Parts: sequence; structure tokens; C-alpha cells
Amino acid sequence: MNIAAEKWYSAVKKRTSRRQYHKKLIEKRKIKDLQTFIKAVNEEFFGLRIQLIQKSVEDVFTGVVGNYGKVSGAPAYLTFIADPELKHAQEKLGYAGEAVILEATSLGLGSCWISGTFDQKEVDSDLNLRDKEKIYAVSPLGYPEDRPTITERILKAVVSSNKRLPLKELVLNEIDPDWPEWVMTALETARQAPSAMNRQPWRFRVGENTIRMLLKGKNVDPRKTKRLDCGIAMLHLEIGALKEGVRGDWEYFEGQNVARFTANI
Ligand SMILES: Cc1cc2nc3c(=O)[nH]c(=O)nc-3n(C[C@H](O)[C@H](O)[C@H](O)COP(=O)(O)O)c2cc1C
Repeated sequence: MNIAAEKWYSAVKKRTSRRQYHKKLIEKRKIKDLQTFIKAVNEEFFGLRIQLIQKSVEDVFTGVVGNYGKVSGAPAYLTFIADPELKHAQEKLGYAGEAVILEATSLGLGSCWISGTFDQKEVDSDLNLRDKEKIYAVSPLGYPEDRPTITERILKAVVSSNKRLPLKELVLNEIDPDWPEWVMTALETARQAPSAMNRQPWRFRVGENTIRMLLKGKNVDPRKTKRLDCGIAMLHLEIGALKEGVRGDWEYFEGQNVARFTANI
């Protein structure tokens, strides 16, 4: 993927999940820019489909416990779809989907990954799913209220949304002050990635010109969407490395190992 490192690095800093929106429509020019970007992403990632739907979201987001997942007001939403038989479907969808989220953030739009609390049937009726396709997540899109509303603030406090684990808990080896700058920026940018319930299911092991991502804990049930979270953090990690001028490649694994980034140095 052609990563707009500087632009998306700023977007990583700005992005935060937003659930309450003004009804204001998104300008046609922005919709067009985003559609062009999404088309390119869909062409690059065979087996994935990201789609922007311009429709009020009131019936899409159901909300569960408290207000987790309750979304109101947005004039459009994104859907993140993949064929589950595609190898590493979740990692790729998280990675590609976060690119769209960060591009939308750069256009001044609010978003919120939602993988649990949405109405599958309602989304399905907007999509005409093809054989085998599965909707993994959706996100509202639009102009959020200027400041998070009280409901949003309470929700964020309940899931400790603003907090991230310190690097020393996320990195499995001892942090070495001699690690190059790109490693530290890559880890720090990955650390800021969003995840469902802010569970941060990723761990990292730094090697010679490599960073390996692993799932935390032994539960690597492929039906759980932790690998979607990991795909999101993979894009963040790569943005961080590129911000320091370092390109690299990903290799995917099965089980507890998720993927390894090798820097082209
Ligand atoms: C893959 C994924 C699924 C998520 N699913 C939900 C959801 O079902 N409902 C919800 O309200 N928030 C959901 N979230 C939002 C997370 O709670 C939020 O990203 C996390 O608490 C970190 O907060 P932040 O995005 O503001 O940094 C999801 C996030 C991700 C990345």
C-alpha cells in the first residue's frame, strides 16, 4: 500500500472514536475523494470490500451494555467486508480499513470501528452481500459533536479508551535504549492503535531489523476478531517506521504469532 506517512501519522494523533454526530451532510468533494481512495484499496486487496454508504445510521447501530456502540446522527457509514476463507482476512481488513479511517480523519471526519454492536440484517440490506462475504465491522462517518458529549465521556471512561498500556508491557524483550529511532516510533505508533474494548491484544518482539507481532495470551480462536485489531496496529506500526524513513515488508503467520515486519535496511 502507498502509505501517506506524514499525513496518516498526524491522523493517528487526532483520531479518537466518536459516536455522536451532527446531522450535517459530508461535502460531495470529500465523499468523492474518499470513494476514489476506497476504490484503490479494494482493487489492491483482493477478497476485501470496503464500502461507504450514504444513509442516516440510526437503524444500523444497536448499542449494548450501557451506551457501548450507541451511535447517533451520522449521515453515512463505512462497512468492512471480507471473504473469511481469504488467508489472513482479518489482519488484511484491519490494515486496509484503518487506512480508510485515517484518510477520513485527514479529511476532518469522525469515525468509530464497531465490530459488535451493529445490526447485521440492516447493514446486509444496504449491501447485497455476495456469496461467502462476511461483514466484520462498520463505522459511522460524519462530523462529530465539537466536544465528546457526556454520554461519550462516560463510555470512554468505562472502557478506559484514552489509556494505552505502557511499552514495557507490550514489548516482550527488555527495551533497549540503543534501538534505532524507527523501532521506537513504530512501536509507539502501534501502541496508539484502537482495538475493540481497548483490549490491545498485541505484543511485540524486537529482533535484528524486525518487529514481530504476537497475540496476547493463549486464546487464538480464529472466530474472535482480535486479528482485526492486530491488522489495525500493523498499519500503525508501518506508518511509524515510514515516518522515520524506513520501509519494510510484512510476513503473516498462524496461531499466536501474527506477523513480522522486516525493515529494508
Ligand atoms: C475492531 C474494533 C471493534 C470495535 N467495536 C466496537 C463496538 O462494537 N462498539 C463500540 O462502541 N466501540 C467499538 N470499538 C471502539 C473501541 O472501544 C475504541 O477504539 C477503544 O476503546 C479505544 O478508544 P479510541 O478509539 O477512542 O482510541 C471498536 C474498535 C475496534 C478497533
